[in-house]
Amino acid sequence: MNIFALTKLSYGLYIVCSKNDNKINGQIANTVFQVTPEPPRVAVAVNKQNLTFEYIDKSKVFAVSVLTEEAPFTFIGKFGFKSGRDVNKFENTKYRLTKNQVPIILDYTCAYVECKVIGKFDAGSHVIFLGDVIDTDFLSEKPPMTYDYYHREVKGKTPKTASTYVEEQKDE
Ligand SMILES: Cc1cc2nc3c(=O)[nH]c(=O)nc-3n(C[C@H](O)[C@H](O)[C@H](O)COP(=O)(O)O)c2cc1C
Repeated sequence: MNIFALTKLSYGLYIVCSKNDNKINGQIANTVFQVTPEPPRVAVAVNKQNLTFEYIDKSKVFAVSVLTEEAPFTFIGKFGFKSGRDVNKFENTKYRLTKNQVPIILDYTCAYVECKVIGKFDAGSHVIFLGDVIDTDFLSEKPPMTYDYYHREVKGKTPKTASTYVEEQKDE
């Protein structure tokens, strides 16, 4: 088997946010996908080591902000290569809170989807959270960033904690 063939699977690029009491956090994820149309349900795969995992697991709510092609690597790096345990990712970031107090990122974002967790599946390193969509809307008409665009144009890398990391990349 050639594990690199998995890099041909397509994704987008998102910031998945959640809360824990009055604290908020968010992380980059590419593994976000709609599962059913009616009722609308969306799933995310989150690494158990991430602070965002703890927050979603506890609060049972998350919000996905869909990044646009304009998002620079410095911005993606803040949410994707650093942990909220070490830095405040919301300093110098525009965001608003939903009715459930979950952040929606307003920088470089074309849409958001807020979800209430209705189930989870332990996939090993990652947990797949399945959520009912409780609110969603457009934020701009800018095109969403695909995972392919991130690699080709932004020349971005993938950390070990991502669902799609391939060991041989040696790129962290
Ligand atoms: C391009 C890219 C894609 C990523 N995809 C995922 C993903 O799908 N799931 C995941 O759990 N982490 C993913 N990550 C890694 C997290 O964003 C990263 O571990 C983050 O630092 C976790 O932050 P936290 O500890 O504040 O939650 C990705 C990172 C990048 C840069």
